[in-house]
Amino acid sequence: MEKISTEVYKKIDNDLYNADGDIWWKPDTILHLLKTSVNPWRVGCAKDIIKKLAIDPKGKTALEVGSGGGILTEEIAKMGFITTGIDPADQSIITASNHARASGLNIKYEKGTGENLPYANGSFDFVFCCDVLEHVQDLPKVISEISRVLKPGGVFIYDTLNRTFISKVVAIKIWQEWKRWAFMPPNLHVWEMFIKPGEIKELLQKNGLDWKEHTGSSPNVSIPKMLGFLRKRAKGEWTYADLGQNFWLVKSNDMNILYAGFAIKK
Ligand SMILES: C[S@@+](CC[C@H](N)C(=O)[O-])C[C@H]1O[C@@H](n2cnc3c(N)ncnc32)[C@H](O)[C@@H]1O
Repeated sequence: MEKISTEVYKKIDNDLYNADGDIWWKPDTILHLLKTSVNPWRVGCAKDIIKKLAIDPKGKTALEVGSGGGILTEEIAKMGFITTGIDPADQSIITASNHARASGLNIKYEKGTGENLPYANGSFDFVFCCDVLEHVQDLPKVISEISRVLKPGGVFIYDTLNRTFISKVVAIKIWQEWKRWAFMPPNLHVWEMFIKPGEIKELLQKNGLDWKEHTGSSPNVSIPKMLGFLRKRAKGEWTYADLGQNFWLVKSNDMNILYAGFAIKK
């Protein structure tokens, strides 16, 4: 897989993460769904991986690449890791820092991109990069940087969106474009930037990361019920908070849309 062309990269709205104020932790906001609807699945996957590897996070160093407002970073810190988050969006870093302070969590947040991580080789025991790889222009560089900053034997945990016909219909048309159901702003995601499991696997192997497994995701409710929820939100009968209280992701074998995985640095 190669760097995304400037023409395609121009379509994604990564400026959103620099909007003024707290766009992450208020319950009635789109990005708070990362906490209510995505965290149960991805934090569950991460904990299962850590358990399977029989690693005690206490005292281990972890970096989250693309930490945004800290919705996943705080869960990483709560597991016991000495935690750092890095993100290019100044406003998100301010929100994440304020929230960690108010929650009594000791997390170091810094500004930077996955393509140029400001850390020495072999700095971290774990790197997390969740819901970010489909937002970057130079994926090969990000993966090579993640590998570089991991210690030998270190663990890379990620999740991202697959580039399938189903993800085009669901994640682009239903979530963003078709007004009947859409709950995300246009261009939050760009389908051409989605990543097939085989593509990430190949990039990991090329960069000295031994790929181990992928896990899929599904909604906790049936598809017709899910569409009913989205319709209520689109009509204004439900808030994002209502959506988050009724819908979340669960582990499944379905890799068509959002999938998680991990690899070990050789
Ligand atoms: C959907 S948010 C995910 C935030 C966080 N990982 C979470 O899941 O709660 C995508 C994040 O990727 C960040 N991002 C965009 N381009 C990036 C890059 N080149 N390197 C690192 N982060 C990037 C954005 O600023 C934003 O905070």
